Amino acid sequence: MLSDLSASRLSSEHVVEIHKLWTVYKTPEAEFVIHKDLDLNIARGEVLSLVGGSGTGKTTLLRQILGLEQPTKGDVMVLGAPASELGSQGAASRVGMLFQHGALFSAFSVLDNIAFPLRELGSLPDDLVEECAMVKLQMVGLGAEHAHKMPADLSGGMVKRVALARALIMDPPLLLLDEPTAGLDPESSDGFCALLRSLHKELGLTVVMVTHDLDTLYELSTSVAVLAQQKVVVKAPPKDVIAYPHPFVQEFFLGERGQRAMELLREYPFAV
Ligand SMILES: Nc1ncnc2c1ncn2[C@@H]1O[C@H](COP(=O)(O)OP(=O)(O)O)[C@@H](O)[C@H]1O
Ligand SMILES: [Mg+2]
Repeated sequence: MLSDLSASRLSSEHVVEIHKLWTVYKTPEAEFVIHKDLDLNIARGEVLSLVGGSGTGKTTLLRQILGLEQPTKGDVMVLGAPASELGSQGAASRVGMLFQHGALFSAFSVLDNIAFPLRELGSLPDDLVEECAMVKLQMVGLGAEHAHKMPADLSGGMVKRVALARALIMDPPLLLLDEPTAGLDPESSDGFCALLRSLHKELGLTVVMVTHDLDTLYELSTSVAVLAQQKVVVKAPPKDVIAYPHPFVQEFFLGERGQRAMELLREYPFAV
């Protein structure tokens, strides 16, 4: 329980501490145990890739870290406080989230999308809010000429960049990404990875990323957590996870598509 997570135990190097987490969904016919006694600690500055089969609860775990969803049992601590206490207002200043789907409000311009969380707070004058949004637009590599475009007029890669700018509008130390490069062409995907990599370096962000894309994983991750059998079966640097004797790990990393990405691992010392 929370009581034994005393202040002294909340070591400053852990941005996320998940302890004995259970997620159970009940239907009238059956009960689905998604997470069972799952433990996961994420250190400051880590870029953690979360991998696992479809339906293993990766997105659910991100939502629980964000405080959008409550686990059935167990503790999710973010920056030393229960994730459930982040609240919708406080959340954006502590955790930024890039959702897999529905990234932008289609009726808002690029600038208004980025400004949204700050405007919601209502504590800053509008010209300052716009100025902040403009800085973030440039931070994600987009020029001011894109500020008044509508989402429908953007490429997939640009949508992701704008969504990232919005996630970072309040300078959160923790960034959550759900399949950030899924659906992007290889060039946009490479560009987005390079952007994430430089932001991680410049801003000292801690990043938790769900991805199936091995190129993205090898380029960015300092560690990989594998979700299988309702828990994190291994969490380690990529080169150690690859050697872990678990059927999912072997198939995911060393199957046909994994071979090509192995080449990349040799090329990117950052990942090892
Ligand atoms: N609110 C919910 N009610 C019932 N089942 C849910 C709910 N949210 C997720 N699930 C189920 O939990 C499982 C894990 O979902 P999800 O976290 O989206 O998996 P992943 O992102 O790993 O593919 C899925 O089987 C999904 O159908
Ligand atoms: Mg998912």
